[in-house]
Amino acid sequence: MRNSRRGQVDPFIVMDVMEAARRAEEGGRHIIHMEVGQPGTPAPQGAREALARVMEDEPLGYSVALGLPALRQRIARLYGEWYDVDLDPGRVIVTSGSSGAFVLAFTALFDAGDRVGIGEPGYPSYRQILRALDVEPVGIAAGADHRLQPVPGDLENLDLQGLMVASPANPSGTMLDRSALSALTDACAARDIAFISDEIYHGIEYEAKAVTALEITDDAYVINSFSKYFSMTGWRVGWMVVPDSHVRLIERLAQNLFICASHAGQVAALAAMECEAELQDNLAVYKANRALMLDGLRDAGFERFAPPDGAFYVYADVSDLTDDSRAFAAEILEKAGVAVTPGLDFDPHRGHGTIRFSYARSTGDIREGLARLKRFMQARR
Ligand SMILES: Cc1ncc(COP(=O)(O)O)c(C=O)c1O
Repeated sequence: MRNSRRGQVDPFIVMDVMEAARRAEEGGRHIIHMEVGQPGTPAPQGAREALARVMEDEPLGYSVALGLPALRQRIARLYGEWYDVDLDPGRVIVTSGSSGAFVLAFTALFDAGDRVGIGEPGYPSYRQILRALDVEPVGIAAGADHRLQPVPGDLENLDLQGLMVASPANPSGTMLDRSALSALTDACAARDIAFISDEIYHGIEYEAKAVTALEITDDAYVINSFSKYFSMTGWRVGWMVVPDSHVRLIERLAQNLFICASHAGQVAALAAMECEAELQDNLAVYKANRALMLDGLRDAGFERFAPPDGAFYVYADVSDLTDDSRAFAAEILEKAGVAVTPGLDFDPHRGHGTIRFSYARSTGDIREGLARLKRFMQARR
């Protein structure tokens, strides 16, 4: 049967790594997972209990397209608690993970042929979702001197209709502070470029609190999710905050594209927002893991990386060790029994010389993984 050109997106390489790791495990090997970008913990207990109760009493049919009103209100309240921002719940749209929010945002904001800037390295699916919608992703090579985040100067010679940023970012874990973020929102406003801020790793910060674009401007699309801080990847619930005048536009798209986000997921997500103690315990594990990673990776011989401000990744420059990160990752899996992600997923141009290590798993796993990496590097010398 015929197929479309725009449907021909690249594979998500980390998924291929996960499959290779799974095959190794099937063959009896013990693998430490430093490739996976998700918490090893389940949804908070209060979330699971709330859903178990509601499941007995309610049919859990479609919710309204914009999401359960109670959840939209609770998310709006979170902006008061986290950032001291007074947010109208009417601007909050509950989505099928942040992935669903990207589809809604890109469809609402861009026409076929429009050009959207994305920082490289960056989350690979931005590029692929844009392509699938016939929108052109424009890679912006972000420099180590700006901690791998785009800066206004990068926009000067580009004809763009949109800019997508993430802070903390995947894969680097680096953040845009208030002045860096407002410099970008100002530059976009001056050029009529739609600004989209992926804030999915907010809540997982180590030194300073992450700044939301909503502290600076209402003229932005802000996207977040229950997948990371709230430890609910598989439940497929996220959200998006849009300017008041865009709510009805998004509502019409959401009704037709998704009907609604998972109703069961929304019930659990609402309860998860009251599980602060458990979520802070998870955060304490990431903090301990991060400290181990910073020392352990250097000790093993991976020295070229910026310490992450947030999220649970270290993005290391390994160009002194390889010019083929995919083969290097395969070698690490084969010889060290540690699964890591080649940088090509995040940066098609420079990613052949980089690797992403995730430290989202248990501290015991991180210790063991670092010991294996050290032995591997010693044997390689
Ligand atoms: C930066 C970033 N944005 C979005 C996503 C997608 O998350 P969700 O589960 O909310 O669709 C991920 C997943 O790893 C991510 O790293």
